[in-house]
Amino acid sequence: MARIGILTGGGDCPGLNAVIRAVVRSGVREHGYSLVGFRNGWAGVLEGNQFDLTIQNTAGILPRGGTILGTSRTNPFSGEVADGAAQIRESLAETGVDALIAIGGEDTLGVALRLSQEGIGVVGVPKTIDNDLAQTDFTFGFHTAVQIATDAIDRLHTTAESHHRVIVLEVMGRHAGWIALYSGMAGGADAILVPERPFDIEEVCDRLRRRHAGGRTFSIVVVAEGAQPAGGELAGRQATDAFGHVRLGGIAVELERELEQRTGFETRMTILGHVQRGGTPTAYDRVLATRFGVAAMEAAVHGRFGQMVALQGSEIELVELERALAEPKLLDPALYETAEIFFG
Ligand code: F6P
Repeated sequence: MARIGILTGGGDCPGLNAVIRAVVRSGVREHGYSLVGFRNGWAGVLEGNQFDLTIQNTAGILPRGGTILGTSRTNPFSGEVADGAAQIRESLAETGVDALIAIGGEDTLGVALRLSQEGIGVVGVPKTIDNDLAQTDFTFGFHTAVQIATDAIDRLHTTAESHHRVIVLEVMGRHAGWIALYSGMAGGADAILVPERPFDIEEVCDRLRRRHAGGRTFSIVVVAEGAQPAGGELAGRQATDAFGHVRLGGIAVELERELEQRTGFETRMTILGHVQRGGTPTAYDRVLATRFGVAAMEAAVHGRFGQMVALQGSEIELVELERALAEPKLLDPALYETAEIFFG
């Protein structure tokens, strides 16, 4: 085997290019392999839309955000594609690619798992700013997103304080509130609302009332986009993607209204959105992404298919994709309880 294909799927994330660079450099220099980049996630693999990746054309991409390969949420098993696995097998044969390195989150890696069960060689690299993939302590991109969200909280603090307002900051986090919890702790938030713990709006209000009764004139509330009020569904969340995920975003709008109406405190909200996924990765993410890329290439060379590289403690290990995807990695309750000590 001497030719490996790389793809990036799902939402983009700072550090994708660092993984690509590391796969290419270690593949060429350490193993004498050639590398091919498929454009736009599984769409490019289905279509055979690819180009050669070399040390030259991947030079200088280490600090660049996004992905030079492009990405998409195309799902070869969504039903829209006649026989996804057969099409991919054919496309790999045509391009002379022996195996794939798939860089993605639960959806992209879910496809990688199915393909490896059908005998197509795929190694996974865990990517998501949400940090909700199991079996790895951290995914790359998370650290960068937390830093961006923390910077935002710091900035919101000064304006909230000046205007004596409550400010609600909405961050990403579909199943898990990792970004909300880490940035909320780092930024000194007065309440952190996460998907793992449905919130009681009156309790949140009480917390703010107590804080303001104690002499503070402003508060910061951080909410993950996937947070839900206890016993209640939110309206206006209809659109779904090829993996069936509802498009989230907007809970801060409702919180702004509710908190102001119930407490009488002037409230504003900010939705950080895709700012969290853009721009250059932190040094931590560059190093993690580089280590993941080197380990994924090594795994591909040794035919460790159906597996994913993972950070466990300070080591990079290989884990079964099946185990990593069995369920999302939710917040550690003890960490949330530590954050709670500082609320309100
Ligand atoms: O990468 C995961 C994620 O950041 C989720 O938190 C969020 O719901 C989703 O991406 C939004 O991505 P897009 O707008 O690209 O569909």
